[in-house]
Amino acid sequence: MRRHLISTLIVATGLASSSQVLAYGAGDVFTRVGVAKVAPKSDNGDLASGAYDVDVRDGNGFAFTLGYRFTDQWGVELLAAEPFEHDIRLNGANLASTEHLPPTLTLQVYPLGGTQSRVQPYAGIGVNYTRFSDEAIDLADADLTLDDSWGAAAQLGVDLLIDEHWAFNASAWYLDIDTDASLNGSGIGTVEIDPVVVMGGISFRF
Ligand code: NI
Repeated sequence: MRRHLISTLIVATGLASSSQVLAYGAGDVFTRVGVAKVAPKSDNGDLASGAYDVDVRDGNGFAFTLGYRFTDQWGVELLAAEPFEHDIRLNGANLASTEHLPPTLTLQVYPLGGTQSRVQPYAGIGVNYTRFSDEAIDLADADLTLDDSWGAAAQLGVDLLIDEHWAFNASAWYLDIDTDASLNGSGIGTVEIDPVVVMGGISFRF
């Protein structure tokens, strides 16, 4: 009888700890780290009343996020990164470049949060703030500046759980980034970058 009770306890403990291993949800503090590609949309507008057709090229870099799950199915995540560098073609010629930092905060839903699924997809919506730096243009006596941008953001991603702490991660964001461009202090138009950011890497839950 006693022996039976002990083995029942062992089985119950085992079940409890195995569900703990996969308990994915409320209270999780997590980070995601990976390599990201920022791919601007193909038509980035024109400047100086149509004189220059603008083509912002892809940029790559390391990115990471920090997040918190306040329920099994709802969380928030902040995307951060090292500055991404982009070449900018004007009428097809590689004449300009910029760096930018696009922190993005999203409110997320995890439809399978709190279940035993090792596949944990998520979606989010939120806001992006982008700050440009080191703008350069290869024209004599010209000084290019790009204004900060605030815009909407959307996100899709999936974690493939490995164990209690680690998961493989793939995620993508759409960012609405429109920046006013100035040459020597005069406005010359708006550049619509509106990139898709794709990141592949790992997730870690603390
Ligand atoms: Ni836009």
